[in-house]
Amino acid sequence: MSDSLPDLLPVDTVAAIERDLPWIPATQAETPFAVVDPGRAAANAQNTADGLAAHGLAWRPHVKTHKSRAMTRIQLAAGAQGLTVATLREAEVMADLSHDLLLAHPPVPGRVDPRRFAALLAGGNITVAVDSTLAVNTLRAAAREAGVVVQGAVEVDVGMGRAGVPDPEAAVRLARELAQGDGTSFRGILFYPGHIRGGGEPAAAVSAVSDRVDGFIEALTAAGLPPRMVSGGSTPTLPFSHLVTGCTEVRAGTCIFHDRDSVSLGVGRDEDLAYHIVSTVVSDAVPGQVVVDAGSKALAKEGFRGGAPGFGRLLDRPEVLVDRLSEEHGILDLSATDWRPRVGEQVRIVPNHVCVSVNLQDRLLVPDGADGFRIMALEARGRLPLAVRPAGSASSP
Ligand SMILES: Cc1ncc(COP(=O)(O)O)c(C=O)c1O
Repeated sequence: MSDSLPDLLPVDTVAAIERDLPWIPATQAETPFAVVDPGRAAANAQNTADGLAAHGLAWRPHVKTHKSRAMTRIQLAAGAQGLTVATLREAEVMADLSHDLLLAHPPVPGRVDPRRFAALLAGGNITVAVDSTLAVNTLRAAAREAGVVVQGAVEVDVGMGRAGVPDPEAAVRLARELAQGDGTSFRGILFYPGHIRGGGEPAAAVSAVSDRVDGFIEALTAAGLPPRMVSGGSTPTLPFSHLVTGCTEVRAGTCIFHDRDSVSLGVGRDEDLAYHIVSTVVSDAVPGQVVVDAGSKALAKEGFRGGAPGFGRLLDRPEVLVDRLSEEHGILDLSATDWRPRVGEQVRIVPNHVCVSVNLQDRLLVPDGADGFRIMALEARGRLPLAVRPAGSASSP
């Protein structure tokens, strides 16, 4: 690992990180806008890192939830050991903040521009997930162009049926391909238990995941390739990750802000909610409902996993749901309350799934006194390369 990374973490982290952010007057914040409470986020980060450390697990938060360097700095200050990224943009933006990034999305031609990928790998601090020979070969080619040896991790499927090889034989084959050198080495495995959402008995489902993971570890160890990294976890399984035999780290991301889903699962509490959308009531023309200006372009049209309807709920009145969404309109169902908001009144809405809501914003606002906000940039949002090549400098074939 490089030891030339700058020391980026200030001593009094949250306050110092907030002070670094540009300030705007409240008059410049038109609804709908997204608000973050960095103090709550920092407490969530600390709880997560400490809770995992108590079981000997490292926290490698997925930055896709917040896409922000300021939030990453808060997570690292809380004790995160490494970061998870999904896109090249996320990796480029976060690369100087951590010695140990995991790109948890397979690189294949078309998804990654070879030259951009090679430039990223040249930093020497990224481990890359693979689940096919094509991904291994893409990684090797980019690593050779960069002149480095890159660590690869084999993604394994533990029941979600998304990415990841389904059986230990395939994992051993890919691990061998990585370990044969010439640009790559084998670091370990990663899995994502996204099929476990709570409800029923999560501990039983986690035990099934543990058996699957154990099978992969045993086969790799028998093949002379014991995994040094066994990366797993999610926010819904935070209370159970230590029950997965051999797991070394957890990649939970949503827990930094929490949302309607994670609170309904009991992983977070109302007082942990660190993100909401501020929205204005724009119409009460139809009895029994009001219309707010937060629609699917602010909240995201994600279904609720807790078995109830709606696309979000009010932070201050949990019984009031966002019943329907158009792009710029949200319909609040008032059937469960006597409260009747006035047109022009502001409300605070908790989205079902915070990560997709954040991705719809162009900035997050942090309240700073009664009359202003600090702007938290979402530097890792979007797909563009961090350093866009000037027009006309496109590479020759
Ligand atoms: C590969 C991977 N790792 C980690 C996470 C983080 O899980 P969560 O959002 O439940 O914290 C996700 C979420 O989508 C993921 O896809």
